[in-house]
Amino acid sequence: MSNRNTPAAGRSPAAVLITVVAVVIPVVPLAFWLYGVIPMMPAPVQSASFGFYLLARAFALLGFVLMFYQFVLTARVPFIEAALKRPNMLKRHRALGKVGFILILLHGVILLLIEPSLYFAKTLGLIALIILTVSVIAAWFFKPLKLNLKTWRAIHLGTYVVLPLVFIHVLQLGSTVLGYRPVYWLFVVLFAGYVLIVLYRIYRLFTQKKPGPKPAS
Ligand code: HEM
Ligand code: HEM
Repeated sequence: MSNRNTPAAGRSPAAVLITVVAVVIPVVPLAFWLYGVIPMMPAPVQSASFGFYLLARAFALLGFVLMFYQFVLTARVPFIEAALKRPNMLKRHRALGKVGFILILLHGVILLLIEPSLYFAKTLGLIALIILTVSVIAAWFFKPLKLNLKTWRAIHLGTYVVLPLVFIHVLQLGSTVLGYRPVYWLFVVLFAGYVLIVLYRIYRLFTQKKPGPKPAS
């Protein structure tokens, strides 16, 4: 008899492989970040704000990858859903979406506090952060905000605008991303993945329509 509905079914080889890849990907930029940071850190740390600046960059690198994962988790790609199961993916989306958002928020707030001046690439980051904050709050707090399904979803679609803005922001500013070829290419590949997901979602929009669940926070 098939055990497709048992918890063990969630740990198929494909699911394990996807999970391993998902864990390894953020390790790459973080390892290069650490490699770049260690020589800059004679004990004691030169200044608290320099320490926060370095930390804010690590938050951004991890936050970017986690943000990309949210597009994968909600894309409804059949071969990924066959391995991870849609309810699990949605559960992970809500949890990892919160973690990613908080890291990105900390990144933006810390770097604004350290250096409040704005210029093009930084302003793009600020605009992206504002759109992301509104989009995430709509899904996270739809109950207290009394938002109906159509409204919170429409607002949450704003997340699609965020990633391209952030990608330009990163290509202009990122010390780690621009400093190390493997990190640069990883970010390019993630962005290409995002473009493929958008194309797939557009294709689905014209071929089938299905309402989704409420964002039980
Ligand atoms: C108020 C909003 C924001 C501000 C003020 C800001 C500021 C900055 C600055 C100054 C840098 C350059 C750091 C350096 O390498 O020296 C940077 C890099 C970066 N930012 Fe933002 N940012 C904001 C929003 C965002 C958002 C929404 C994301 C989304 C994930 C993001 C992701 C990144 C990434 C991945 C890097 C590259 C880090 C590295 O290569 O080490 N930023 N940001
Ligand atoms: C970095 C943060 C987040 C990003 C980038 C993000 C992105 C997305 C995207 C791209 C979708 C698919 C929308 C569509 O095409 O219909 C989605 C759906 C959804 N999001 Fe988020 N999200 C984030 C955080 C959250 C949080 C914190 C929650 C709730 C606590 C949440 C709840 C949902 C729900 C319930 C769906 C519907 C999924 C479905 O119908 O398959 N998201 N999100």
